[in-house]
Parts: sequence; C-alpha cells; structure tokens
Amino acid sequence: MDTFRIEGPVRLSGSVSINGSKNASLPIMAATILTAGKSVLKAVPNLSDISVFSKLLRQLGCKVTRSRNGGLCIDSTVIDNPVGEYEIVRMMRASICILGPLLARCGRAKVSMPGGCAIGDRPVDIHLRGLRELGAKIRLKSGYVIAEAPKRLTGKDIFMGGPFGSTVLGTANVLMAATMAKGRTVIESAACEPEIADLANCLNKMGAKITGIGSARLIVEGVRQLQPVEYQVIPDRIETGTFMVAAAVTAGELKLLNCRLDDMMAVVDRLRNIGVTVDAANDGCVVGRNGPIKSADITTQPYPGFPTDLQAQFMALLSLAEGNSVIIEKVFPDRFMHVAELNRMAANLRKEGPTVIVAGVKKLVGAPVMASDLRASAALVLAGLAADGTTVVNRVYHIDRGYERIEERLNPVGAKISWENI
Ligand code: EPU
Repeated sequence: MDTFRIEGPVRLSGSVSINGSKNASLPIMAATILTAGKSVLKAVPNLSDISVFSKLLRQLGCKVTRSRNGGLCIDSTVIDNPVGEYEIVRMMRASICILGPLLARCGRAKVSMPGGCAIGDRPVDIHLRGLRELGAKIRLKSGYVIAEAPKRLTGKDIFMGGPFGSTVLGTANVLMAATMAKGRTVIESAACEPEIADLANCLNKMGAKITGIGSARLIVEGVRQLQPVEYQVIPDRIETGTFMVAAAVTAGELKLLNCRLDDMMAVVDRLRNIGVTVDAANDGCVVGRNGPIKSADITTQPYPGFPTDLQAQFMALLSLAEGNSVIIEKVFPDRFMHVAELNRMAANLRKEGPTVIVAGVKKLVGAPVMASDLRASAALVLAGLAADGTTVVNRVYHIDRGYERIEERLNPVGAKISWENI
C-alpha cells in the first residue's frame, strides 16, 4: 500500500508552479471526439485520472500520445467503438462525459452508468434528461446507458437545474452534444464553473458557435462539423486553493505561479477573512499568514460560490482556528469522509447532517490516517504539515488522481514528506 509519511510541523516558504486544470482537461479531452483529426492539448497535467481517460479514448478508437514537450495529442480520426466500459467508468465518473460527444459524432453510444463514490450518490439523471431533450433515445440496460440518435440531434431550450443547483459534467455533456445539433440550443441553469467556460472556449476554437460563456445561459447555434484544435487548458483553481491552504496552515508564505485569482474570488474572500494575506503578483499570487487563524463560516455552492472541492482542505485549516467555524456542504451533502480522520489527528469536528461544526484546537497531532478520496487526501496531507509529530496517510493513491507529484513539489518549499510502499 502506498503511504505518505509526513513530519510536522513545518513552515512552507518558496515558489510553487500550478499545473493545468484536471477538471477542465477531462471534458476537453472528450470534446476531441467531436472532431475527426489530430488535436493537441497543452498544460494537461500528468495525473492518473488523465491516464484513465486516455485509456477510455483509446478504447473508442482514438490514438492518445504525449509529445516531447508535454502536449497531449489526441488523434480522433477513427471512432469505431462508441462504448465506455464499466471497468473504466467505475474508476472515474468523469467518463460519463463521452456520452454527449459520442452521440453527436456516431449517432449512438453505450456507456456504463457510473455508480456512487466516496463523496456521495452522484446520479446522472440531468445529463440524460438534457440529451433526451435534444432528441436522443435513451434506455438503461444491464448497468449501461444506451443512447441513440440515428438522425442529427435537434437544438432546444433546456433547463439543466437540479436539486443541488447546476451540474458541471451534465452541462459539459449537453453542451458538447448541442454544438453539432440542428438549430439553436439554449441551456438554462448551465454550470458557470471556469472549467465549463474553458470547454466552451475550446469548442468555439474547434468551430462551434457558443455565446453566453461563463453565464448560466449558454446559447449554441449548431454547426455541421468541428475541426481539430490546438488548445491550452486553464490553470487548476483547486490545486491553487490547496497550495494556498498549505501556506496558511503552516503559517508560511508561498508564491504560486501560473494561477488565476479571478477564478477564485470566494476562496480568496474566505482566506482574507480568516487572517491570510493573498496578494496578486506577476503571473500568480503570494499567500501567507503571520497571525492566528480566525474562525469562519463556509457554505459550498456551485461557482461562483465556495467550491466543494476545497471544503476538506479548509476544514483542516479551520481546525486550527481561534473559535468555532461552521461548514455546510450544499453540493455533495455526504462529502465528509475526512471528518473522522481529522478527528484522529486531534481536531474537534462534529458532523450534523450536511454541516460540520469545527471547534478550533491549539494544535493537531500526527497519526496514521486513511485517505478516502482525492480532496480528503489533500486535507490529510495539509493537516500533517501542521501537526506535531508523524502523520502516515494510507491509500495515498487517491491524491495522484488530482495532484501531480505533490510531495516533490512541497518538499523543496519546506515540507518533509516521504513516499513509502508498505
Ligand atoms: N447531480 C444530480 N443529477 C445529475 C448530476 C448531478 O442530482 O444528473 C447532483 C450531484 O449529485 C451533486 C450536484 O448535482 O449533488 C453537483 O454535481 P455535478 O454534476 O456538478 O458534479 P460532477 O460534474 O459530477 C464535477 C467535478 C467534481 C466537483 C463537482 C462540483 C469533474 C471531473 N468533476 O463533478 O470534482 O466536485 O463538479 O463542482 O469535473 C474533484 O475534482 O475532486 C471532483 C469531485
């Protein structure tokens, strides 16, 4: 089993470069299905989720390679097997976003229904509703979504809201399908996340006609064909936020290169509120803390609200605040597997439904803990940097899904993390 052994407490200081966004890269990789030719995507991070998605695209018939300068080349000239097998989809739910582009390109698709995961149920009903509105015939058989659109999909006004607000990958799926539909599609209550704006910008570069990018109302004029593209994905705002918390939780100072503060207003607002300085700098920002951490209330929401993908990391940070904080999870109400693990490190967290009350403690204490999902793993690593003594994070493979060689990037700025296989 892969583990991280973390010695703490440390104070981080120095520069870290932020990689391209995982959650922008995945739907953009899926978008290449809409074209017949060779696309080159730049700044796609080297993560296990990207490898899994590459494998999925290869099963469809694409050729996926890394160029010498790190670009991801996807040759989608041939797509002769429009099937997303269970073996891959169960490893990564984002696989579902091949459904829309496969339907548009091949007129049919068979994709395994993703199950739940460590962060909750994660249904795909809104994805399917949106694609049905565009004219797809969809049925479920033996755990697979079987979708057909022998004639071209047809544009329509579609409402994409659900019980928890908008859906990120649902919007991606329907948006990609709509780019090649006949006529105009209006997606109301579309996800406004920067990753969806990045996808839409990439689709426009391929020749799509999308307006309203970044808003909750996307308007798509369908086109007959899209062209392969060369495109650079945006920096990862969740990785940026995680490194911001690393600076804050260790009372250190980090310069984060290649990040976009504009995508992170809610996060920066919370950090400044609790006594962390965040200053824009050339090509990035400087984040640091001198004084105590103040308590804060956080409610996760779809963008531009506070991101659920930083909830666990902020919980680790607020564990060390002066006073009580309240964290409410409104996107994935069950995303709290890290609570019990942080409590093992002497945090004082009490979960009440989708809410956690964080009673600040003076110090965290190292302990063996278990990572349950990507962001929970990050939270445990952050807690380990600040905790007294040794923290051993087990099942650390989760972290490779979303952070490229995190230990090799944190150690040069003062962390003491060693990777062990026990
Ligand atoms: N939902 C439905 N029905 C649907 C789709 C979603 O009820 O058909 C619900 C979900 O259960 C959830 C809420 O709507 O309660 C929002 O889910 P969403 O569909 O927006 O999530 P997602 O698209 O599956 C992406 C990210 C997640 C991130 C969420 C929310 C990717 C690959 N994944 O998932 O990222 O937490 O948006 O921002 O983009 C991560 O990177 O660690 C991660 C989990």
